Amino acid sequence: MSHAGPERHDRLAVVVLAAGKGVRMRSAMPKVMHRLAGLPIILHVMRSVGALEPERTIVVLGAGMEAVAEAVRPAHVVVQEPPLGTGHAVLTARDALRGADGTILVVFGDTPLIAPETLARMVAAREDGAAVVALGFRPADPGQYGRLVLAPDGSLDRIVEFKDTSAAERAIGLCNGGAMAVEAACLFGLLDGLCAENAQKEYYLTDIVAAARRAGLKIGVIEAGADEVLGINSRSDLAAAEAEMQRRLREAAMAEGATLIDPATVYFSHDTKLGRDVIVGPNVFFGPGVTVGDRVTIKGFCYMESASIAEGAEVGPFARLRPGARLGPKVHVGNFVEIKNATLDEGAKANHLSYIGDAHVGARANIGAGTITCNYDGFEKYPTEIGAGAFIGSDVTLVAPVKVGEGAYVGAGSVVTEDVPADALALGRGQQILREGWARSFRARKQAAKSARAKTEGGGK
Ligand code: UD1
Ligand code: MG
Repeated sequence: MSHAGPERHDRLAVVVLAAGKGVRMRSAMPKVMHRLAGLPIILHVMRSVGALEPERTIVVLGAGMEAVAEAVRPAHVVVQEPPLGTGHAVLTARDALRGADGTILVVFGDTPLIAPETLARMVAAREDGAAVVALGFRPADPGQYGRLVLAPDGSLDRIVEFKDTSAAERAIGLCNGGAMAVEAACLFGLLDGLCAENAQKEYYLTDIVAAARRAGLKIGVIEAGADEVLGINSRSDLAAAEAEMQRRLREAAMAEGATLIDPATVYFSHDTKLGRDVIVGPNVFFGPGVTVGDRVTIKGFCYMESASIAEGAEVGPFARLRPGARLGPKVHVGNFVEIKNATLDEGAKANHLSYIGDAHVGARANIGAGTITCNYDGFEKYPTEIGAGAFIGSDVTLVAPVKVGEGAYVGAGSVVTEDVPADALALGRGQQILREGWARSFRARKQAAKSARAKTEGGGK
């Protein structure tokens, strides 16, 4: 990596633009609140920006975007209403930027894959003497991005928005990534000169490049990989960004020592934590908040969120861990088992077809197939306590609140409504009735009646 790795910047202020309505998303929710790897788009941007440790960060939002303001706290929020373009958005932050005297870095809230190292390179180029530093990239399909128009000497002459391009300009492959690093002392002078005489009748931030050039200021361009600068404007862009994010998360998981049997089918969240020698089978989904210890095996088709799995545990195939599932070391959770807000201590097993909710299962306890904790009466949730070494037979219904003591046995098919003391046997099921030979005589009776009927019906012809 270059010399310009992220470091603390005392003279750096950041403005994140996110006031746009995002109409192309066709959503009731602000564009930047859509999630990538489980985290709102804008928080990916905040994370990249945060790595530079700027002296302040200002987020420009539209009216009615309280949810976004809440999500970006403690960043300072200013409201741009109505949104009249990216240049106008930066102007809205004028008061909030008072006293900033080094570099002002403008980034877009809709460009979540940007790496802190790239932003740091822009800031470094600015500090090396450029008044304005733009971010260029060369996507396979330049589509609707703004184009960087170079002067004959190779320096940046101006940026032209797609809707304002000529056919010749549309052929340019170098596109505008959006972010810009500007010398604080020049920024507002350049912005004040903007006009909105363009196809979208907006004040474009991009126009400050031509203005800086007219003023004889030095302009720089930093180039980034196309996978970093993907701007999200539509659901299709969102899916493309998710694919890139997942590719990165899978690579990172493998680099850290996890085996992914079929990486393309494993979905991670931004905060998934995997230990060493974890093996993840195909078609596994990690929602937010999952922590996995060393030597855990997660077999195919598991779905997990807000759960922790301690070392040496085995999960799946087809297990579902819901929020608050805490599996201790060497726990086994097998197929079609759902666990919610429940702790299973070391070596406990629930291998088949169970629902365990609001429960504590002691060490080495065994939960038989089909066992259900009945934790909800339509109004409230109740706890189930299963002691260490208890054996719960198959198809047991534990009606909470209820406790099964250490080492107790609960017979298969029992409905347990009362606490079971330690080392006791509980049976709560109908008594079995046995009638020797009954089936044989039943069949004989039925068969005789059927034959008699067939004879009368045949004779009646
Ligand atoms: C913008 C750039 C374009 C670049 C592309 C990269 C401008 C004029 N155009 O186009 O050159 O190729 O990004 O992704 O800068 N916003 C506001 N207030 C406004 C308008 C926009 O805060 O009045 C915010 C949006 O919420 C968004 C960002 O600025 O986060 C960019 O706006 P958007 O409308 O997405 O611009 P693009 O058309 O993508
Ligand atoms: Mg955009």
